[in-house]
Amino acid sequence: MSKLSLENVVAKVDELPSLPQIVVRVMELTEDPESTAFDIQELLSQDQNMTAQVLRMANSIYYGYSRRIATVTDAIILIGFNAVRSIVLAASVSKILKRELKGYVMDHGELWVHSQCAAVFARLLAKKTKFRSIELAYTATLLHDIGKLILNSYMDEAYQEVINAVNEEKITFDQAENRILGFSHAEAGGKVAEKWNLPADLVEAISYHHDPSRAEINPRLTSIVHISDAVTLQMGMGLGIDGMLYPLSQETVDLLGIENSDLENLMAEIVDLFIDKDIFN
Ligand SMILES: [Fe+2]
Ligand SMILES: [Fe+2]
Repeated sequence: MSKLSLENVVAKVDELPSLPQIVVRVMELTEDPESTAFDIQELLSQDQNMTAQVLRMANSIYYGYSRRIATVTDAIILIGFNAVRSIVLAASVSKILKRELKGYVMDHGELWVHSQCAAVFARLLAKKTKFRSIELAYTATLLHDIGKLILNSYMDEAYQEVINAVNEEKITFDQAENRILGFSHAEAGGKVAEKWNLPADLVEAISYHHDPSRAEINPRLTSIVHISDAVTLQMGMGLGIDGMLYPLSQETVDLLGIENSDLENLMAEIVDLFIDKDIFN
């Protein structure tokens, strides 16, 4: 087995597509208090595919509205700038996440389904815990396993060893990665998020989603990502081999000031939404 190092993996990050320019512009515009719905509509109109996908996702995620969201301007008025921003990000990231992940024994699209389910759950959890930015929680959770894409290209050689350790020693995938590779998909994901110039608390949440007690910048955000990931795996969404053993950190539940029964209620609330496969397109 060739020696892997986090530096090798970081070099691989350069081969990942960078965030499309249009996404970067949308992020800038939605943060600028001077910009209007019209500015965003105009920017998105340069990319018809993106516009169509944004409208489809807006209509399937925000299913509660009485009328259909037909234009980007409608979407901005009805669901807000920040929600539109996270959908634009989701739409572009979905392309990257939908690649096949052989190294993790995940079927085609499985990472995307897992990420999207977890992110939808994160949105509810953020609301329930009055987290300051529902969209930040959504985005961080959507991206939490992005490091699996990077490791996947290296996993072939080390794969069997990691799998054996998981199966024989009943340790988590994350623990096996750390011992055999010397780093985890979570750390690798943090490097990707850094390369994409995402905010520091988002980088932290991705890096520590399996080890939430290490978060310092925004422990609440990391807790939301960790819980959403664990709950989604418990619900059987996106079960790769790492889904079998995933301890939920009670500390994160306490930190958010909720009870385990609140999580069960949120699960019950979301189960119907998970059946609607439209949100995963
Ligand atoms: Fe993970
Ligand atoms: Fe995950």
